[in-house]
Amino acid sequence: MAVVAVLLGWLSPVFYILISLLFGAFLAYCAYITYVHMKYDHIPGPPRQSFLFGHLILFCEMRKKDQIVYDKLIEWAETYGPVYRINLLHKVLIVVTCPEATKEILMSPKFPKDKEIQKSISSMFGERFFGNGLITAVDHDLWYKHRRIMDPAFSRLYLRGLMGTFNERAEKLMERLSEEAENQTEVAFGVELDLLNQSSPFPKAIDTCLLGLQCYSRDLFFQYYPKNRAFIKEVREACRLLRTTGAQWINDRKKATQNGEDVPKDILTQIIKSAGEEENMTKEDEEIMLDNFVTFFIAGQETTANQLAFCIMELERHPEILDKLKQEVDDIIGMKRDISYDDLGNLTYLTQVLKETLRLYSTAPGTNREIPVDMDINGIHIPAGVSAMFFSYVTGRMEKFFKDPLKFDPDRFHPDAPKPYYCYYPFALGPRSCLGINFAQMEAKVVMAKLLQRFDFTLVPGQSFDIRDTGTLRPKGGVFCTIKHRQTQ
Ligand code: HEM
Repeated sequence: MAVVAVLLGWLSPVFYILISLLFGAFLAYCAYITYVHMKYDHIPGPPRQSFLFGHLILFCEMRKKDQIVYDKLIEWAETYGPVYRINLLHKVLIVVTCPEATKEILMSPKFPKDKEIQKSISSMFGERFFGNGLITAVDHDLWYKHRRIMDPAFSRLYLRGLMGTFNERAEKLMERLSEEAENQTEVAFGVELDLLNQSSPFPKAIDTCLLGLQCYSRDLFFQYYPKNRAFIKEVREACRLLRTTGAQWINDRKKATQNGEDVPKDILTQIIKSAGEEENMTKEDEEIMLDNFVTFFIAGQETTANQLAFCIMELERHPEILDKLKQEVDDIIGMKRDISYDDLGNLTYLTQVLKETLRLYSTAPGTNREIPVDMDINGIHIPAGVSAMFFSYVTGRMEKFFKDPLKFDPDRFHPDAPKPYYCYYPFALGPRSCLGINFAQMEAKVVMAKLLQRFDFTLVPGQSFDIRDTGTLRPKGGVFCTIKHRQTQ
C-alpha cells in the first residue's frame, strides 16, 4: 500500500506536466489554425462546421453514406465561384474551376504536386506502394528522369506496333464473353478486374491492394483497429507480391536481352531499353521502376475498366446512340477479326462516346498542385502555401461549361464542335498528364469495337446508375448485363 502511495506521489507531478504539455500543444495548434484562418479566409468558401476540423466532418459523413463528395464540390463551385476555399484541420485547399487558372497552373512545371497528399499514397500500411513513382513523385528532376524512361513505351508510334497484342488480349475477353452468351449467364462489368484470369494470385493481389488503398486513404484510424489486422497483413503481402513479380519480370527480361535471346517487342522491353540509355541509374531508380510497375497495374487497369463499364451503362440507356455506334463499327470494322490502328482513327463516333463517358464519369476525378508563390485567381489574392485542386468531374458537370450537363450527348465532342477550354481534362493536363492516355484509349476502343461487333447486351432490370467513389470512380455495384451473340451475324 505504502509503495503505491509513493508511486502515486511521484507520478502525479509527471502526470500534471504531461497534461500541461498536451494542453499547451493543443493551444498552440489552435493558435496556428486561427492564423491560417486569418490568412486565407478572404477566399470565398462554404461556412466551416467546426473551428478545428473545418469541412472534414462533412466529407467524412458523406463518405460514410457512400455519397459523392465531388457533387458537393459542384454545388459549392456554383455558389462560391471559380475559386473557393476548403479547410481540413490546418490545411487549406482551393478548388479551382476557372479555365484560365487551370491552364496557367496545370500547364506549367512550376507548380509541384502537393507533398502531403502524395505522401499519403506513396506507402500503404507501412509497405512501399506507389513509392516515388510517376504519380506520386514531387521532385521535378527525379520525376522527369523517369518520365523520360517511360515516355517512349507509351508513345502513339510505339503502341501502334502493339495492335496485335491489343487485338489478342481483347479476343481472349471476347471468347470468355462468348461462353457467357452461350450459357446465358449475367456479366458484371466494373466488378471483376480481370475477367480472364481470376485464379492467378496476381490479379487477386491487384484487387486486394485496391481495396487496401480505399480503407487506408479513407479512414485515418483503420490500421489501429485490431479487427483489421488480418486484412492489413493480406494487403501488405499483396503489395509485396506486386513488387516481387515486377522485379522478377524486369530481371528475367534484362537477362534474356543480355543473352541475346529473342524477347517480345513489348512495353517492358522498351522500358528496359530506355532505362539502359539513362546515365546514373541508382538503386533507388530501380526501386522507382518497380513503383511504376505497381502504378501501371493499379492506376491503369482500374480507370480503363471503369470507363468501359460506365460506357456500357450509358449506351444501354441510349439505344439511339448504341445503334449509331454499331452502324459505325459495322461500316469500318465489318466482320474483320483484327482491328488496325487506322481503323481506330476512323471510329470517330466511338471516340466521341468514350470522351463523353469520361466527361460525366471522370474515373480518376482530379489532380492537385501546390501554390508555391502568391498569385491572383479570378481577381482573388491567393497567398502561397495552399494546395489547389482541379476536378474534371466537377467542371465536366457544370452548366457553365456544358449545356444540360447531365445529358449524355457524344455530339459535344463532334470533330466540328468547339473544343472545351480547360474545363475537360480526364487525363489531367500539361507535363504531369496521364502517361497511359494513348494506351488506355486504344485499349478501350479495341474492346468496345469488338463488343459492339459481336454482342447485344441488355442491362439486368434494377440496374443502379449511381457512382461509387473508391478513390477512382466506378458504377455502384457494377453493370450487370445479359449478353447475346448479335443477330445480324
Ligand atoms: C481511362 C483510363 C485512365 C484515366 C482516366 C487516367 C487518368 C489519369 C489522371 C487524371 C492522371 C493524373 C493523376 C494525378 O495528377 O494525380 C493520370 C496520371 C497517370 N496515369 Fe493515367 N489514366 C488512365 C489510364 C492509365 C493507364 C492505362 C496507365 C498506364 C498503363 C496510366 C498511367 C498513369 C501514370 C504513370 C500517371 C502519372 C503521370 C505523371 O505524373 O508523369 N494511366 N492518369
